Amino acid sequence: MCGIVGYLGNGNAKEIVLDGLERLEYRGYDSAGVGLFDSERKTYRIFKEKGRIDDLKRVINTESAAAGIGHTRWATHGKVTKENAHPHTSRNGRFIVVHNGVVDNFRALRSEYLDAFRLESETDTEIIANLFEVFAAALPVQDAIREGLKRLEGSYALLIMDREDSGTVYAAKHKSPLLIGSAHSGVVAGSDLMALADHADAYLALEDGTFAELRPDGFSLYDLNGGALDYTLREMDAEVVESDKGAYPHYMLKEIHEQPIILRRILDAYTDEEERPDFPNSVLETIRKSGRIHILAAGTSMHAGLVAKPLFETLTEKPAEVHVASEFAHHTPLIDSDSLFILISQSGETADLRACLNRLKDEGYPTLTVTNVRTSTLAREADAFVEIHAGPEIAVASTKAYSAQIAVLSLLAHAAGASGMPMKREISNIAQSIEKFLEQADAVHDHVKSMLEGKSHAFYIGRGVDHAVALEASLKLKEISYIHTEGLAAGELKHGTLALIEEGTPVFALISQPSTALHTQSSISEIESRGGRVLTIGTEDVAEEAHIALRKTHPLLAPLVLVVPAQLIAYYAALELGNDIDKPRNLAKSVTVE
Ligand code: F6R
Repeated sequence: MCGIVGYLGNGNAKEIVLDGLERLEYRGYDSAGVGLFDSERKTYRIFKEKGRIDDLKRVINTESAAAGIGHTRWATHGKVTKENAHPHTSRNGRFIVVHNGVVDNFRALRSEYLDAFRLESETDTEIIANLFEVFAAALPVQDAIREGLKRLEGSYALLIMDREDSGTVYAAKHKSPLLIGSAHSGVVAGSDLMALADHADAYLALEDGTFAELRPDGFSLYDLNGGALDYTLREMDAEVVESDKGAYPHYMLKEIHEQPIILRRILDAYTDEEERPDFPNSVLETIRKSGRIHILAAGTSMHAGLVAKPLFETLTEKPAEVHVASEFAHHTPLIDSDSLFILISQSGETADLRACLNRLKDEGYPTLTVTNVRTSTLAREADAFVEIHAGPEIAVASTKAYSAQIAVLSLLAHAAGASGMPMKREISNIAQSIEKFLEQADAVHDHVKSMLEGKSHAFYIGRGVDHAVALEASLKLKEISYIHTEGLAAGELKHGTLALIEEGTPVFALISQPSTALHTQSSISEIESRGGRVLTIGTEDVAEEAHIALRKTHPLLAPLVLVVPAQLIAYYAALELGNDIDKPRNLAKSVTVE
């Protein structure tokens, strides 16, 4: 969703801020803007545009800037207009602000402090800029900003420029991520490590309720009462720096191909040389002590949770339930007092999950976040977190994070339980099988052309964990190809949806479970006898004749191999349709609003 970037240093602020915004494009946005201190004109300039960063670049006529802040906006409150794009300025123009987050009490603030102000936009951010102006009438700038911040309810990551001091940028954070990096020539800030990657050697992820003063030679950190805080910078993660497309035409294809490497990276991170699992004891003990495991997640991460459920039940012999986070937050079921909550989130910022976490913490339940981003809010706020080591996932459609989540959760369930399953060997064989399969990715492209050309509806069917994969496969196909797709439990077809099968309706059938393979074959016959066109994807042991046959694997881990052709089907379908594969319409990478 929205992204922010700022830089203060030599005359490269324009380039560094625009580069940072481009690196955040993957998160999804519909307008963008920058505020720059123009070094030649010795004045602040603001440029905003609807649409892409390239559109913004065309209107910027500042050559060199010593300081700059920028923003990509994904509209939530207020339409997609140039007026609503950030930065926003205060009435007298003194404060220039970019903001991620939502100020819940902006109406109350407006009527208490800004009654006489005429506002230019529909945003809460303009209220923030004006609040600083109100307090700055009587207070030094730092105190004025802090007084403003203390009155904000909700979430914010803010970068603030003050026209009276071109040598400083202020930063503040509460419940929306913000990082500050020590740049090779200055200081850089951003809402995502990606924005800092090429420009900083080391960074600090700000804590909630902190406030920073950035200068070209470094930054000072304070609490909201002005008390100075110490900090230690963390070295920039090498994998973040290396995150470009390489030889691949799209990030999604690159990320699909990275899956075998990531599975091996996960094995290195969480098993020792004797193939024993290696997780912190405290995490394992929390799982062992719990009577029931609740998994909370959204979208693709929720689908990874559906695969993890039988793994936890089989390997730890504890009941496990999976909940959609946006439902759980508001319609909480009865919960046993010895429950453990596992929150799965690639980004670690999903607002639906943050709402659940706040509630669970208030009620005192133990929480564990499984995430790709160790600096994220959910990683920091849960009792414990486990990293999935997938490296930055740039394509909006999640692929490698899904398989990394399943692999880490499998190892975790295995470590907490007492089964004799040779988990390390299984996952290592799966990495090999995926590699082998990816060598024939072109064949999937051909299947896509013959199955989906000219189609606007499709189905995925499967039973047990094949059904869990069918849900993920159908989400993947619909989100980037815009072909309406449903994932169904194969046995449910005849209870209604079979009515939609007609001559040529494309159905992808997933078959990897020995116990239900024959039942799924019957569903296929029902579809084919009504003219439906079925493409089978299965493991060789149970679906020898499958159109796309994958190597045999442990049935509980089959989703790790089965999902790969489904990811490629989605990719090639979107490619054939000429869609923006890495940035599908209407979607954002990190969904920070409920
Ligand atoms: C789909 C996709 C989304 C995310 C969902 C949760 O490809 O990526 O469905 O899985 O928005 O996001 P995270 O995992 O960041 O909590």
